Amino acid sequence: MEDTLERHEFGAEVGRLLDLVVHALYSEREIFLRELVANAADAVDRRRFEALTDQSLALPAEPRLRILPDKTARTITISDPGTGMSKAELTEHLGTIARSGTLAFAKSLADTPAADKPSLIGQFGVGFYSAFMVADRVEVTSRRAGSEEAWIWASEGHGAYTLAPGSRAEPGTDIVLHIKPDAEEFLEPIRLKTIIRKWADHITIPITIAADGEEQPANEGTALWRKQKSEVTEEQYNAFYRHVAHAFDTPWATLHWRAEGTMEYSALLFIPGMKPFQAVEGERDSKLRLHVRRMFITDNANLLPPWLRFVQGVVDTEDLPLNVSREMLQSTPVLGRIRRAVTGRVLGELKTRAKDPAAYAGFWENFGPVLKEGVWDDAEHRGDVAGLLRFRSSGIEGWTSLADYIGRMKPGQEAIYYLVGDDPAALAKSPQLEGFLAKGVEVLLLADGIDAFWPERLDRFEDKPIRSITQGLIDLSAVEGGQAAGEAADVAALLTLLKEALKEHVSDVRATDRLVDSAAVLAAPEYGPDLQMSRMMRRAGRAMPGLLPVLEINPRHGLIRRLADPALPAAELAQTAGVLLDLARIQDGEGPRDPGDFARRVAAALALAPD
Ligand SMILES: Nc1ncnc2c1ncn2[C@@H]1O[C@H](COP(=O)(O)OP(=O)(O)OP(=O)(O)O)[C@@H](O)[C@H]1O
Ligand SMILES: [Mg+2]
Repeated sequence: MEDTLERHEFGAEVGRLLDLVVHALYSEREIFLRELVANAADAVDRRRFEALTDQSLALPAEPRLRILPDKTARTITISDPGTGMSKAELTEHLGTIARSGTLAFAKSLADTPAADKPSLIGQFGVGFYSAFMVADRVEVTSRRAGSEEAWIWASEGHGAYTLAPGSRAEPGTDIVLHIKPDAEEFLEPIRLKTIIRKWADHITIPITIAADGEEQPANEGTALWRKQKSEVTEEQYNAFYRHVAHAFDTPWATLHWRAEGTMEYSALLFIPGMKPFQAVEGERDSKLRLHVRRMFITDNANLLPPWLRFVQGVVDTEDLPLNVSREMLQSTPVLGRIRRAVTGRVLGELKTRAKDPAAYAGFWENFGPVLKEGVWDDAEHRGDVAGLLRFRSSGIEGWTSLADYIGRMKPGQEAIYYLVGDDPAALAKSPQLEGFLAKGVEVLLLADGIDAFWPERLDRFEDKPIRSITQGLIDLSAVEGGQAAGEAADVAALLTLLKEALKEHVSDVRATDRLVDSAAVLAAPEYGPDLQMSRMMRRAGRAMPGLLPVLEINPRHGLIRRLADPALPAAELAQTAGVLLDLARIQDGEGPRDPGDFARRVAAALALAPD
């Protein structure tokens, strides 16, 4: 066996391989600039590191990366004062696909303490070839730091390159891209600047772009999140916030921390002080920016759950495994852990700040409705979010939390009660509240769109059930006081008659003691959506047949007492039943079923009324 075993090396069709890198790896051509700038930044960081042990390699006084577009020559030149490459290194690193000199260098530093190690970007050994997406010829003139010699590497990107002696006044590298006819847009300085802003804004070395005869700064270059908290002033934080969030306000909260140990990342997050102008509605995903070693990777990594999408800022991590194209993240447990940690941190901050009700109210008014989605959406954080909710209440001015509400519950009160509607002012006057107000039982008044949904998912808070006062039958008899005045009519027969008369419109008719001044209200059936939810579905043309509301009548009310009178003619009862239902609908913010008919009946009734 042994001697029949042949051993072969894989071959590679170099031209094809290059073609793949150039045409199949990156989805956007503008990426070439990010890759070349990353290489230049790595080269500068390497030289800075090498100079620590060899003074003669020291960088020039103000190192910078220079980008020089030339419309006449149709070239872009990118120059850096980094390590440069010797003739051998040009062959080795630019002449071998997937050979990364940067990675090899980083590995050689295995024994260097982490704090002293430069944080280098290159690792796959392919980024350079992205230049051929926009250039049909690339010339690299490079002089290794510590050497006098310079060499010119040149290629058309089809599988061959040339090397020739050259000259360069200082160590470093110039990359000249001869721009393809269909890539002329990249000769525009403004286009180049936009690309730098997007992808390489926080490369710490200054980048300039030559335009109108001068070199204009192109990057922010602060990577503020990598600094110590103590090194950053509030002014700098605020300016940075405005820059990343495209905002004009001052952040309500600034969170800056660095995680070390099993998970290493820095985060600089902001909670805006104002509601952003673009409606938060459309886009539900968090746009938190993910950087890996200062380089922008994506703002689509969903670093926070949708209900924290108002949080702005940057998360930067050293060791996230990236795809070769740096475009997509491989699905990795690291990202999941960072997500959890960042979410926990933001929640913790909100909890702390919620202790100052006046300051928290500002936040709540801007982003409360978004936060509520967390109760609906996020089983894992539901309990935490519930503690952060604030409400208007029938019992107090201002905002209340669920915990404070519980503190004010009446003896005998079993549940946390709420009423949902569209308009907070109308809610406060709703007849649905009458019985509760009479007994001094507080009702939370919910008027955000999302309020029709989330309470369904939050069954209880602390150990108190949360109940809609329009859903099912609520028994307040255990709560002292507020006994309704007047004598209750015997409505047993009336209930049967009403049920029959209104059977197309209500699923049930029953007596209630939660009304004081009103004759009737609508309630939702015990099982099925709450009134507000059904109302929203109806308006959206999605009424659910079969789920008719319940009509509750007040046996102490004069109108009900008259209807309960056995002497009342049947025809009059039938007519008045319709009016009663319409009245209940109107109180609930709905129109009467037939407005014209309703108006005629009321007018007729008023004409008859004794004065
Ligand atoms: N401006 C430069 N100065 C010095 N060396 C460079 C420069 N550009 C590229 N190199 C060398 O060429 C190698 C190949 O670059 P390339 O961008 O293809 O790969 P990489 O940066 O190592 O990895 P990645 O694919 O992640 O970018 C680098 O590792 C580096 O050794
Ligand atoms: Mg690279």
